[in-house]
Amino acid sequence: MRPKLLVGNWKMNGTRADLPQIDALVAAHPTPKAEMILCPPATLLGRAAERAQGHALAIGAQDCHGAERGPHTGDISPQMIVETGATHVILGHSERRAEHGESDSWVRAKARAARAAGLTPIVCAGEDLHARQSSNEIDIVTAELLASLPDETDGTTIVAYEPIWAIGSGIAASTEDIAIMHGAIRDALTQRFGETIANQIRILYGGSVKSDNASSIFAVENVDGALVGGASLLATDFGAILTALEAAT
Ligand code: PGA
Repeated sequence: MRPKLLVGNWKMNGTRADLPQIDALVAAHPTPKAEMILCPPATLLGRAAERAQGHALAIGAQDCHGAERGPHTGDISPQMIVETGATHVILGHSERRAEHGESDSWVRAKARAARAAGLTPIVCAGEDLHARQSSNEIDIVTAELLASLPDETDGTTIVAYEPIWAIGSGIAASTEDIAIMHGAIRDALTQRFGETIANQIRILYGGSVKSDNASSIFAVENVDGALVGGASLLATDFGAILTALEAAT
């Protein structure tokens, strides 16, 4: 059985004034039946990791560079992230692919570098509305995901299916569509990495997950948890989704 996992992505939200949300979250959920990771902006990683210490909460970054050091103004290396106390890193989020032109091969290089530094990558893939409307979504998502995963991927790697049109839109994918996509992703992972590894990899769904749709999404086969954006900012919202995930375990 794959342990259920809930990941919160604060994106470019949150200042020091928001750190008490972390205290509230761990206080309300001291012994969760699912794993929990929160990914605040880079400026808060160290402080967030300090607050999470000793609690059932891991901290992740939202991106990293593919090199250890060098002339890359504004970037942060996996080794620097490790030093903050964070243990995970989101890679290949569609917002980075769109706003920073990140290619599959670049995401793959980042995932390789993250793993080498000791971080667990959370690799994202998802189709845009055009691909969905032209019924191309399975080919596009599985190709994007496989091209974004390095050959040395093992069962600890986490992947997230995030349809771009569902992110921040308030309209999550239907449970039928999620079931089909997650099944296709599991098959694609099996073909590439073999059954043992593919069966260990957690496949998260992301895109407008809220407390009111979480239970139905978590009941879908091959959904091992969620990657949550907007509803991760407040401990009460995120905690309610965690409770739904615990009920599904
Ligand atoms: P959302 O974002 O939950 O706000 O739709 C999800 C994500 O981009 O990870």
